[in-house]
Amino acid sequence: MQHIKEAVIAAWEAAWDSGEVDAFDAILHDDYRRESRSSRRVFGAAELKQEILDVREAFPDLRTIIDRVLVDEEHGSLALFWRTTGTFTNDLQGVPASGRRVETRGSNLMHIRDGRIVSEEVTWDQSELLADLGVPSLRSAFEVDESVVDDLSGVPSIDALKGFNRQFITGVTVVTTLDEDGRPRGLAANSYSSVSLDPPLVSICVQKTTSTYPSLFKSTHLGINIMSNGQRGTVGVFASKGADKFAGLDWHEGPAGSPLIDGSAASIEAEIKERFQAKTHTVFIAKVTHAEVSDAEPMVYKAGRFFDGAELTELPTD
Ligand SMILES: Cc1cc2nc3c(=O)[nH]c(=O)nc-3n(C[C@H](O)[C@H](O)[C@H](O)COP(=O)(O)O)c2cc1C
Repeated sequence: MQHIKEAVIAAWEAAWDSGEVDAFDAILHDDYRRESRSSRRVFGAAELKQEILDVREAFPDLRTIIDRVLVDEEHGSLALFWRTTGTFTNDLQGVPASGRRVETRGSNLMHIRDGRIVSEEVTWDQSELLADLGVPSLRSAFEVDESVVDDLSGVPSIDALKGFNRQFITGVTVVTTLDEDGRPRGLAANSYSSVSLDPPLVSICVQKTTSTYPSLFKSTHLGINIMSNGQRGTVGVFASKGADKFAGLDWHEGPAGSPLIDGSAASIEAEIKERFQAKTHTVFIAKVTHAEVSDAEPMVYKAGRFFDGAELTELPTD
């Protein structure tokens, strides 16, 4: 066991600190399986190597300190306690790099067979790293219960979910921010939701592939403009990609600088408090710091079409 302990430490340092991931070949059993306690994911050697390379790409100056290695001769297992420091230099899982230094820590329980690691339980994965960077993940939503993986009862098809969403009538907002050069950026979004009045919280869900996303993620504040009947053209601009969506548009800055679009039915500026990772999207929770409400009627959005919010007919109560 003393031999494998030394071999594990050497391979660990070579892989995590220098990117020599093939150093693990000497210590991993052919049946090697790694289970993450936090994400409940199970994967093999290839995924482990890729994960290390991905993390090293994001944190090129990564340094690992192995605090402790405990050997359990009787059960043929080895526990390793480690911590790692590094600078968040390149994007990871769609989260834009912040240049911040972070320390993350975890422990691995390794089971040894034939002098090699056959299985490993780890307390850490990339979602832990993002959480240490202040970007928690909605990981409970991604957990897969292996025992019921073939039983899809109760799981809606994508089409059923789309159908459900199409039945939900909303307004349309344009979510705005300033990029690093101080230029206004924005996208059309109907995922706006009021969270609470006291404290005054709102949420918005933004797809990570949008061009507005990196600026939004890095911002301290955002603007949310509820589109009015007179802004059908503006919605079209902000629902598509464009070099300067604000060209020819009248807008003003909120107290913290967020672009607020003139002619909107209402606009708020809010300070971003949380950025929850939801795989393809990030859920922003923001605290409202400024509000403007106009007399303009809001636009209505239903199943891909836009309607006049002033032309709604009220239903009788009986
Ligand atoms: C009515 C409507 C609602 C939308 N809601 C959202 C939304 O909530 N979140 C999102 O990420 N994209 C949403 N989109 C799509 C974006 O507006 C669209 O992808 C846009 O091209 C993004 O621009 P960008 O890549 O320049 O940031 C919506 C589009 C429309 C027409």
